[in-house]
Amino acid sequence: MAKILVTGGLGFIGSHTVVELQNVGHEVVIIDDLSNSSMNVLDGITAITGIKPVFEKIDLKEKSLVEDFFKRHNDVKGVIHFAASKAVGESVHKPLLYYENNIGALVYLLKELTKLPEAAFIFSSSCTVYGQADELPITENAPVKKAESPYGNTKQIGEEIIQDTCKVADNLKAIALRYFNPVGAHPSCKIGELPIGVPQNLVPFITQTGMGIREQLSVFGDDYPTPDGTCIRDYIHVVDLAKAHVVALERLLEHKNKASYETFNLGTGKGSSVLEVIEAFERVSGEKLNYKIVGRREGDVIAAYADTKKANDELGWKTELTLDDAMLSAWKWEQSVRSKE
Ligand code: WQD
Repeated sequence: MAKILVTGGLGFIGSHTVVELQNVGHEVVIIDDLSNSSMNVLDGITAITGIKPVFEKIDLKEKSLVEDFFKRHNDVKGVIHFAASKAVGESVHKPLLYYENNIGALVYLLKELTKLPEAAFIFSSSCTVYGQADELPITENAPVKKAESPYGNTKQIGEEIIQDTCKVADNLKAIALRYFNPVGAHPSCKIGELPIGVPQNLVPFITQTGMGIREQLSVFGDDYPTPDGTCIRDYIHVVDLAKAHVVALERLLEHKNKASYETFNLGTGKGSSVLEVIEAFERVSGEKLNYKIVGRREGDVIAAYADTKKANDELGWKTELTLDDAMLSAWKWEQSVRSKE
């Protein structure tokens, strides 16, 4: 087993990935700046695995702090890099915050990794790089389109920076994981999604509406060219997604990669409409959801769901959990969070 740095390890996907890394025996060090997470998440991880990860509060935009970290942890064998700003809408209004945080920190991390004897790097990317794909399901060969937001652009630029670095740094091997829509929570109800303020994403808004925290869900458009008129996405359970990170990391640690830089789409391979997600929530919760159809949200693509063949065949990974599993775990998590308030 190896010592692995998880940046953004107190975040939604990061915390679930830390749990899965510990479950297979890796030693985990977390860096997080706590800008979009809390120390309660560290307690949640520890409660699940019984192992408290080493945690350091570091702002990765501070180059000297990143250098100092690697002086003290020069035995790190791999990095899973989640730390980034990720609100699509916010990125339109604050582009420089996104370019500084998402690109600057990545460059400082990579500079330190190229100094190590060897390093495995897993990058948190997104299906957003495809925009509205011309063909569905979406394969890794689908063209990367002009990003619709600075957030999406930072993912595209990030992938290019990593690819260029791997070409010249013989010690560095990297995988970009392009997530579709991560949803759900750990079945223990000890970690889950904790959106700050009004949720931008569908599933936390649904569960908060189910709890009466939000009055009503607005469904952004039912006039799309889809079977029920609402947008289609590939909703992947966060625990399945976390397990994919462990498999991808070990592919690099065990030198099974076929190139120094690879990309994998991570989804279920099944598209679900907004109305189908609502139906799944009502089915698993027994609650009737209060929602109304409103106008379209700018920037939404009509449909996006993954072709999972490459991840299935080359990573030997596939999703095991269903949309109902995800909605039930999200609902139970929401109830657990509110019961502690
Ligand atoms: C899903 C569907 C909405 C909220 C975004 C980012 C992507 C990734 C995941 C970071 C859409 C509809 C939503 C609501 C609604 N983030 N919706 N009412 O936009 O597919 O992806 O989050 O990596 O990069 O782009 O996810 O959950 O916001 O929306 O009708 O209140 O739900 O229109 O069709 P999205 P989402």
